[in-house]
Amino acid sequence: MPETRTFRIAAIPADGVGAEVVASGRAVLDALAHGSDGAFAFDWAEFPWGSDYYARTGKMMADDGLEQLKDFDAIYFGAVGWPTVPDHISLWGLRLRICQNFDQWANVRPVHFLPGVTSPLRKADDIELDWVVVRENSEGEYAGLGGRNFSGRGPGGEVAVQSALFTEVGCERIIRFAFDLARTRTRRKVSSVTKSNAQQYGMVLWDDVFARVAADYPDIETESVLVDAMSAKFVLRPEDLSVVVASNLHADILSDLGSALAGSLGLAASANLNPERRFPSMFEPVHGSAPDIAGQGLANPIGAVGSAALMLEHFGLPDQAARLNKAVETVTGAGILTRDVGGTATTDQVTKALIDALNG
Ligand SMILES: NC(=O)c1ccc[n+]([C@@H]2O[C@H](COP(=O)([O-])OP(=O)(O)OC[C@H]3O[C@@H](n4cnc5c(N)ncnc54)[C@H](O)[C@@H]3O)[C@@H](O)[C@H]2O)c1
Repeated sequence: MPETRTFRIAAIPADGVGAEVVASGRAVLDALAHGSDGAFAFDWAEFPWGSDYYARTGKMMADDGLEQLKDFDAIYFGAVGWPTVPDHISLWGLRLRICQNFDQWANVRPVHFLPGVTSPLRKADDIELDWVVVRENSEGEYAGLGGRNFSGRGPGGEVAVQSALFTEVGCERIIRFAFDLARTRTRRKVSSVTKSNAQQYGMVLWDDVFARVAADYPDIETESVLVDAMSAKFVLRPEDLSVVVASNLHADILSDLGSALAGSLGLAASANLNPERRFPSMFEPVHGSAPDIAGQGLANPIGAVGSAALMLEHFGLPDQAARLNKAVETVTGAGILTRDVGGTATTDQVTKALIDALNG
């Protein structure tokens, strides 16, 4: 019998509903491994980092946290942020610290419409909609460059500068990633998003790189759209989208819009990839810690489970990823839905239904 492939995964549930959806995703992945007849297995280590850890230690993660994580095959993340900690501290202290130091420069966020889930878009009823947002995940508006000064001028006198960083290397690698992804899809098209009419340095560099890289992919259709027009297009002409590539901030906002159009933020999956595989990649639902519903069993686990499917693809298990996605479609198609998508099922009930669908 061939040897079992064991994948070592660092789970970081962190805050709020993060704990609930990571527990669900782990249970579903373990059920999948259990049914693989020993072909593969997951070896989990869970890390207690997040806002509670901050309350105890004054830090969002251990000082040597990156060292502890770096040899795992992947990181499975929940969500970070809680009202007791300023959001910029919790985000920079954990999630962005991991993303930036592990050079997870490509953030892949599929916008997927599921059977049984009603979209606020009427056209979703009779047109097949399916696109993916590719987010530059290492620089742009979230490069962390800038500072605050002049508080000594007294109340009302402080000044802050927040700079966006666009490098030719950073633009080129994410744009090439988008084109390569487009080659794997039925609709071979890349839409580039900027605001280069108003932001004439960084985003014009992006446009220039896009035009140069596009010349290497004559088989791929292209368009360049300003972010304001693209937000309208998400609503009015989404059938014209396949791969949408954008800067860190723009793609962050657009992907939330996309998941809302697909029915709920709770459905959206994402992968933070280090494509060179020098560091572990990180898989997480798009949503945050949802303090308004945390701890009540109301969290939709499908974003986290979809992120687990992206992790399986990253491990080179596309058939298993497809099985997981099929189980999700079976469950939503049967109307087993959490409250955010109009149902009454709890997180545990959806999790159990997913496991039953895998075993069925
Ligand atoms: N990747 C991350 O870790 C991440 C992303 C976004 C926000 N945050 C943090 O999360 C905290 C809350 O932020 P927010 O309220 O702006 O965004 P949020 O994504 O936590 O919640 C927005 C809305 O979506 C709902 N929602 C989110 N996830 C859901 C799920 N799985 N099932 C059902 N409904 C769900 C919430 O109930 C809420 O109404 C903040 O501290 C913020 O900084 C973290």
